[in-house]
Amino acid sequence: MLPETAGHHDRTLMARRQGTSAKKAGKEPAPPEKHDIRPGQSLELLQELHILTRDGKLNQDSRRKLKQINHLYQFIEPLLEDVRRANRSITLVDHGAGKSYLGFILYDLYVRQNREAECRIFGIETRDELVDKSRDLARRLGFDAKSFLNLSVADAIHADAIPQQVDMVTALHACDTATDDAIRFALMKRARFVVLAPCCQAEVAAVLRRNKGKALASSLAELWRRPLHTREFGSLVTNVLRCLQLEAHGYQVNVTELVGWEHSLKNELIMAEYKDLPRRKPAQRLNDLLRMLGVEEELGSRFFTPPEERLIRNEP
Ligand SMILES: C[S@@+](CC[C@H](N)C(=O)[O-])C[C@H]1O[C@@H](n2cnc3c(N)ncnc32)[C@H](O)[C@@H]1O
Repeated sequence: MLPETAGHHDRTLMARRQGTSAKKAGKEPAPPEKHDIRPGQSLELLQELHILTRDGKLNQDSRRKLKQINHLYQFIEPLLEDVRRANRSITLVDHGAGKSYLGFILYDLYVRQNREAECRIFGIETRDELVDKSRDLARRLGFDAKSFLNLSVADAIHADAIPQQVDMVTALHACDTATDDAIRFALMKRARFVVLAPCCQAEVAAVLRRNKGKALASSLAELWRRPLHTREFGSLVTNVLRCLQLEAHGYQVNVTELVGWEHSLKNELIMAEYKDLPRRKPAQRLNDLLRMLGVEEELGSRFFTPPEERLIRNEP
């Protein structure tokens, strides 16, 4: 089950209120580091990832990253539990892994605590030096069930090293169209859960920009006529199309904030669970949107929907 979302602002507000009343009562709140680190979280790992300094301090940037990832973990943990209950084994692929903060922290918080489950986490990353460093760190920490593949997301779809069936796909701020490739990967691997925090995607905005002259015949094009709006509207449309695409392939989709906007501008979190839901309507909506925006030709293959016969069979 996808977890209930939102509530972040309520919690932030509660935390602020608690902070204020602690001050009023003359009690100093605990040092910020203590709030940011989860119980049982390996300080050694956080130091190795340079999230914590050697003397246990967090700087502003690393606090933001840790907050993001720990918050994301709250969403992911129940999904991992669902998979574990169903399969006893978990295969997770993290795309655009970067320094693999997410993969390492998932491993530390979940895999180490659930030794009886057979877990495998793959980090997919194109930058050699990051892959080498992550491999080295995993070896030093004895994180044997963590692998790093020096591949693009698109190439990972056909990589022999990755099993045919994957339980969960994550992509945290994977650049540009890497998130779309991660969706394609999830669809091909029939992943039960997909967790995406998209980065800026420039492709849709570029197509809208290119076709602006033609589109301006319709008042709808006012939504993206000005350059800043082209970028923002392009980014919104991209995520809407991603959600419709997942729905068109049978997923239930939930969209929420990753953390508060004060912590990250790239803050949308898309979580999807495969439910074998009816697909015709979202598929039609997706294709209608592409047509209405005049981008069907260029973007139809990126935001592909299932073949017609599958849409028919899947109708209730
Ligand atoms: C902004 S970083 C995010 C890293 C990490 N997920 C995090 O949140 O800390 C995006 C990473 O995705 C990688 N990347 C970009 N496009 C990719 C692609 N097509 N396939 C694999 N990795 C990609 C980049 O090299 C970069 O390390």
